[in-house]
Amino acid sequence: MSAAVPQTDPASHAELVTLSIDGVEVRVPKGTLLVEAAKTIHTDIPVYCYHEKLGPAGLCRICLVEIDGMPKLQIACNTVVADGMKVHTRNPRVDDGRRAILEFFLLNHPLDCPICDKGGECDLQDYAMAWGSGSSRMIDPKTSKPKAVDLGPTIVLDEERCIVCQRCVRFDQIITREESLRTEDRAVQTIIATATGKPYVSDFTGNVTELCPVGALTSKTYRFRSRPWDNHRTTTSCTQCSVGCRMHVDERGNTVLRTMSVPEDDALSDSWLCDRGRYNVGFVNDERRLTMPLLKQDGAWVQIDWADALDLWAEKIKAALAAGGPERIGAIGGGRLLNEEALLAAHLHRALGVENLDHRIGTQTLVHHGSFANHVDLENANTIITLGRPPSQLAPVLDLRIRKAVSRNGARLISAGDYAADSFVPETHVTTPAGLKDAIGANPGRVAMIWDGVFFEGGPELTAAMHDLPAATRVDRYVLPETPNGRGAEALGMIPRGAGLGTGAMFAAARDGKLDVLSILGANPVLRYPDRALAEDGLRATPFVVVTDLFLTETAEFANLVLPVCSAFEKSGTTTDLAGDVLPVVGSVRPPDGVLADGDLLVELAERLGVTLPMPDELEAKVRELVKTPPADGAVPAYVRATAAAPGGALRVIADAAIFTGGGTLAFDTAIRELHARPHARINPATARALALADGDPVNVAGDNGTTLYDLVVRVDERVAEGAVALLDGVVRAPLNALGRAPAVRLEKVPVTA
Ligand code: SF4
Ligand code: SF4
Ligand code: FES
Repeated sequence: MSAAVPQTDPASHAELVTLSIDGVEVRVPKGTLLVEAAKTIHTDIPVYCYHEKLGPAGLCRICLVEIDGMPKLQIACNTVVADGMKVHTRNPRVDDGRRAILEFFLLNHPLDCPICDKGGECDLQDYAMAWGSGSSRMIDPKTSKPKAVDLGPTIVLDEERCIVCQRCVRFDQIITREESLRTEDRAVQTIIATATGKPYVSDFTGNVTELCPVGALTSKTYRFRSRPWDNHRTTTSCTQCSVGCRMHVDERGNTVLRTMSVPEDDALSDSWLCDRGRYNVGFVNDERRLTMPLLKQDGAWVQIDWADALDLWAEKIKAALAAGGPERIGAIGGGRLLNEEALLAAHLHRALGVENLDHRIGTQTLVHHGSFANHVDLENANTIITLGRPPSQLAPVLDLRIRKAVSRNGARLISAGDYAADSFVPETHVTTPAGLKDAIGANPGRVAMIWDGVFFEGGPELTAAMHDLPAATRVDRYVLPETPNGRGAEALGMIPRGAGLGTGAMFAAARDGKLDVLSILGANPVLRYPDRALAEDGLRATPFVVVTDLFLTETAEFANLVLPVCSAFEKSGTTTDLAGDVLPVVGSVRPPDGVLADGDLLVELAERLGVTLPMPDELEAKVRELVKTPPADGAVPAYVRATAAAPGGALRVIADAAIFTGGGTLAFDTAIRELHARPHARINPATARALALADGDPVNVAGDNGTTLYDLVVRVDERVAEGAVALLDGVVRAPLNALGRAPAVRLEKVPVTA
């Protein structure tokens, strides 16, 4: 090899070093680990404990390599490259070393491959085939340990199969910072357990099943369902929230079996998935899926065929136009549709003169505030300010970026207002303008502000400190949409313009007899609109309500016509993430017979109404153009979250969010029922003392509108303001919106009977 001349990597400006790996010259930035340097020439050095997102641990020794001049074999995962280094990843000495290491791993490993879920994608199986001796020299019986240990709601642990690489433990320490897993006992008896002895509960548990190099950790939803070679894999974007993580979908026999992370997806998911994206797939094949249009006649559902259903919808729209004009028509939804479908919905209605369009069904204001800062930008912030409901529950994988920015890059995390960020890293929670100003300090560096997009009283005063930032401060703004494609739907026109009405105003107009046709496209406002009574009154009073959905949701129950539509696993197009990126959605399974995509039925409807829609090739360009256009003026409804003190001993309500809430895909996924959020009432310790309530007590929540929510669990939490109670929004059996907008409530302890 010629003498190495130090050079600089043009991309990273890092100094380059030159070494040889198996006789091939390699130039990599200084500081690179040998295991990574080898990848640049497509040489895979076997690893168990090492993972590129977790770093080296030096626990397993399977990555042995020979380096000229070093007397012993070295571990490639924790050896940094050096100029002139000569490395051998395959030679008889290295192979012998690996064979010896493998023999130790297999001493007590059960002969499980034929019944192990990891079979076919197991690193122990693969390396044993490559370097194993084929027979055992052990004469003592293997050490046996418990199998099928229930580690928590999602994961089963086979203790015998564990090779104690500790990837799972380190994921929980380094990535989520939750530290709920640990090793217990010693030597051959070492096992993985939870630190508290309680079930392993986290919103990211599924990642450890992928990190586990063997079949020790398996997912309850996938165990014993398929072999990897029988699966057909598609790569798509998760549409369960606005992060849009890249993910693989494994399907067999037209059934979605599992979703897997995409290791190369550094830009969005950083190669992780949250458990909602990973496990919420069972709804696709749920037998309650709608498969025929349903028409309500005399209070009962009657199946009709598609042509009649679409004719009826078109007739009702024509009649409304003829009788009263476009202002007597409205459409709600789009945030759960593909970009192309939201664009078609907006285009079709606007072509008819309809301006009553809104994708928002909750409390959200505009999503697009002119920022295109992306997920990686967030990781590079020095000061992160969260405002509103915690990102951990609205955009879970984005929250892992916050944890990374704080724990690895030293960013400061400040949460302002009613909510703590709850990111498992140190944070400063402030509730006053002075507190925020102090927390930001004089040198905030690069700032990222993450907001749930809900206006609240006192918000402008609280955030005034943002206006005092040094002039050169870079501020990246992130608004978390209330629906996965909220940003796309808004950009593509599902937003009221001019005299158009927003969702709340549409319901009010409908209640007052001013709407004839209301089309609700993949949305469930009866569960999510802040004033459920108004939503229900509006729907009841509208002569013709069409709902497109997979299931008979709370909203569909109020419809005259329900149209069964595809899930995101059954159609292709694009979605827009919270950063304004247009992401591909690729269908992986066929929809059930009789089910159409929202986009298909909008095309059929347009034909019946004589509206010309953009052609498919025009659609894509239009979507990209509109999503990248700065926001137009929209009618911003005065959604205000009440913060005034509730009267006479009552508590004001703070709306809590949880990723495992909702009335659609989640409520109809029985395989993950254990993950459904249990409704809680979070109160301050002082409030708890005053009401003689303790953590875990069951309570009923009595609203000032006469509605009571039953059997919630008290959570005592000092981060909740005194005189307030935080209640989960979007829980089917205890819907917060049934209490009305800005309710004052009383907590009533449920007597425990013997
Ligand atoms: S359970 Fe799997 S990931 Fe965890 S230490 Fe054991 S082998 Fe490693
Ligand atoms: S963070 Fe959002 S997009 Fe990513 S896996 Fe979870 S639900 Fe899906
Ligand atoms: S991968 Fe190198 S020691 Fe485990």
